[in-house]
Amino acid sequence: MTIQDARGLAMTGADAAAADGFETALDEFQCYVGNPVGTIEGVLEARPDFAMGHLLRGYLYASSLEGPALAEAGKALDRLQALPVDAREAQHRQALDAVVSGAYERAALSWEALLVDHPRDIVALQIAHLFDFLRGDARNLRDRIARRLHAWTPADPGYHAVVGMHAFGLEEMGEYDRAEERGREAVALNRRDGWGYHAVAHVLEMRNQPEEGIRWLSSTSAHWAQDSFFDIHNWWHLALYHLELDQIDEVMRLYDGPIRGERSAVAIDLIDGAAMLWRLMLRGHDVGDRWQELADAWTAMIDDGVYAFNDVHALMAFVGVGDQARIDRQLASLRRSADGDGDISNRAMAREVGIPVAEALVAFGRGRYQDVIDRLQALRPIAHRFGGSHAQRDLLDLTLIEAARRAGARNLLAALASERNISRPRSPLAQRYTAAARA
Ligand SMILES: [Fe+2]
Repeated sequence: MTIQDARGLAMTGADAAAADGFETALDEFQCYVGNPVGTIEGVLEARPDFAMGHLLRGYLYASSLEGPALAEAGKALDRLQALPVDAREAQHRQALDAVVSGAYERAALSWEALLVDHPRDIVALQIAHLFDFLRGDARNLRDRIARRLHAWTPADPGYHAVVGMHAFGLEEMGEYDRAEERGREAVALNRRDGWGYHAVAHVLEMRNQPEEGIRWLSSTSAHWAQDSFFDIHNWWHLALYHLELDQIDEVMRLYDGPIRGERSAVAIDLIDGAAMLWRLMLRGHDVGDRWQELADAWTAMIDDGVYAFNDVHALMAFVGVGDQARIDRQLASLRRSADGDGDISNRAMAREVGIPVAEALVAFGRGRYQDVIDRLQALRPIAHRFGGSHAQRDLLDLTLIEAARRAGARNLLAALASERNISRPRSPLAQRYTAAARA
């Protein structure tokens, strides 16, 4: 008898115990808790021919976009080449092959073709959602989920994750009211759904409601912070609200505590560290020796050349410590990524966005503010192409407006302050920029 997953999809090479373990790993992945890699590896030890197990393992590694993890994803792909698979699993294998090759657009097309035929394939849906995020594809963050909703009911296992992903996609498309409703629905369905809390956190960030944001994340942290591998990013969002309110002591407390206290060496966590210190630096705050620790952690990935969004955040730390050798090495790595052609996604990301952003950050560090303005002005319409969220890429807007202030570019400062005050009507920082433009 063919074993099926909890949504009715056949799984080659599984037995009942493997199917159970697979659901446990999926549940962890969907909530961003526990250790889904460890769980699926335990399943594969007992059942080494379980194709969806290898696929999930490969995707989990690949989604970190770090060099050594991508090599592990490549090993999962090698293992799959020798295993029997059905037509759906063969489509997954093709998508994993594209991801391991760095061809994320090609992978996204494979997942979409698969999802048209198998809209209840939650593995394809979640991994495609993550790569839509990593590619800055806001429309698909929302609509790749919307195209699947016809096949789901609230009784289906993992439905909360579908709702939570829809919430985040709605938020990135600017539909804040519907996004908030869906995010709250996701966490009501499963109170451990870390992505659902995060979607609502983004809504409150984009609506410039920092007090509400603090209430939201503080009152629910017992659910999203415990045993989570996504908690640092939600702590970062909490710190971002405090920053907006000029509560710098609280920002530092969160930075030294849950954000960097455990010295995570994972790229997504290092991004949060760099993104917060850079914002503090822009506001003129002394961050002490915090850049040093962060720069040292980033150095392990300096030559990876996997993802320009990572490289740019690493560069912030190297600019933060003023280490010219590491700045040059990171720039060289980005330029290597941008070389050549073919469908490796990071080539375009590095060439179109990564390098100009990196050059702007280096220029900022050297006090060449007009250079910063020239580079970042040209980038504004296309910055989303190297991925991340609107809230993360706000760092570019903040760098631009501060460069305008420091360059004495009064008319530009007035224009950018006007823009910022309209999108963030309760922002003390935006009001300070308006005052500076008038001074
Ligand atoms: Fe976020």
